[in-house]
Amino acid sequence: MYELDLDGLFQEAQRAATFAYAPYSKFRVGAALLAEDGTVYTGCNVENRSFGLTICAERNALVQGVAQGRRSFIAIAIASPDAVEPVGPCGACRQVLSEFMAPQAQVRFGGSGPERVDTTIGALYPYDSLHDLLAFNVRD
Ligand code: THU
Repeated sequence: MYELDLDGLFQEAQRAATFAYAPYSKFRVGAALLAEDGTVYTGCNVENRSFGLTICAERNALVQGVAQGRRSFIAIAIASPDAVEPVGPCGACRQVLSEFMAPQAQVRFGGSGPERVDTTIGALYPYDSLHDLLAFNVRD
């Protein structure tokens, strides 16, 4: 098991945020997702003029990883440079991330200021039924 470099992962999230397409909200978000095998997948938010079709940075990163054959991710960093304080993932992203991340998977998020929040998927999304369903191999 290699060492988890959350600082490096957060820097990758900050870089991913520079690619955000956010002309409507002007709120850029970047995410860097670490797969179990050490590969990092990044994503940014991609907005749409039909607002409900916007894709969050976290789900963008996740689907990039799954599309490359990864099924298990151990950490995610989320950068929102247009907010000073840390901004956590939205409810939809918590649900979707939990499909492929265990409750103990690490989450770090931060804005443009110095504060960082370090937490876990389980803390952000408690009482999740999927982890019970997985006992029945629903993902195979
Ligand atoms: N957004 C994300 O990409 N991730 C989050 O965790 C919070 C919200 C995006 C969606 C939208 O493009 C913009 O930020 C404002 O909500």
